[in-house]
Amino acid sequence: MSALLQVHGLTKRFGGLVANDGVDLHVREREIVGLIGPNGAGKTTFFNCVTGQLRIDAGRVVFAGDDLTNRPPEVVARAGIARTFQIVKVFKEMTVLDNVMVGAFLRELRATPARGRALSALELVGLAAQAGTRAGDLPVALQKRLELARAVATGPRLIVLDEALSGLTPAETQEALAVVRALRERGIALLVVEHVMEVIMTVSDRVVVLDRGKRIAEGPPETIAHDAKVIEAYLGA
Ligand SMILES: Nc1ncnc2c1ncn2[C@@H]1O[C@H](COP(=O)(O)OP(=O)(O)O)[C@@H](O)[C@H]1O
Ligand SMILES: [Mg+2]
Repeated sequence: MSALLQVHGLTKRFGGLVANDGVDLHVREREIVGLIGPNGAGKTTFFNCVTGQLRIDAGRVVFAGDDLTNRPPEVVARAGIARTFQIVKVFKEMTVLDNVMVGAFLRELRATPARGRALSALELVGLAAQAGTRAGDLPVALQKRLELARAVATGPRLIVLDEALSGLTPAETQEALAVVRALRERGIALLVVEHVMEVIMTVSDRVVVLDRGKRIAEGPPETIAHDAKVIEAYLGA
């Protein structure tokens, strides 16, 4: 069976800088794939190219059999890919519930079903008790959780997380990992970007490593953790 997401030879240049250089990556149905690499490796650029925020210079993005190469973000979202942002982007003046309803309106035309969909997304990420809170009043760790609920409410088959697990306390990290696993139980695949290796190693089925725009390694976490090229890329950084 072919993978849910297939990215072939993705290349993105910023002037003379090749931020992504012929990157191949795939994610299977219900798989958790970690994308790691030192700061500046090109992880966020890769995300933005896959989710339609940036146009790519070469390569192909295929999702569930549809060619999404250089399609705009709303087409990508409707096809079933949802994302979070490295710097959280919540609607601060709106309630937690209203924020998540924004995501739900991708699939629902009316407020009542959108509210129901949003509430179940909040339950799934453990934020139901904060539904009426102004989003800007949540601590950052919970704003990240809110972004995840908004992504879930769009009814995705794949969620891409950019540093959603960074900057959390050990207890918050454990909670976030439990949420990631719960999403997979719901049949959602995940592509998780982190520069902190430890976290990704515990949750990923498979890990892909980027360094200076190139894919330098791919494999199960235990193999990647001992890969000489990977260790050098991290120590070099
Ligand atoms: N919009 C942009 N314009 C120019 N250079 C960029 C832009 N976005 C990212 N870069 C550069 O591309 C490289 C990869 O950045 P990024 O994808 O943010 O890396 P990572 O997320 O792995 O830390 C870096 O050298 C960064 O400075
Ligand atoms: Mg980044």
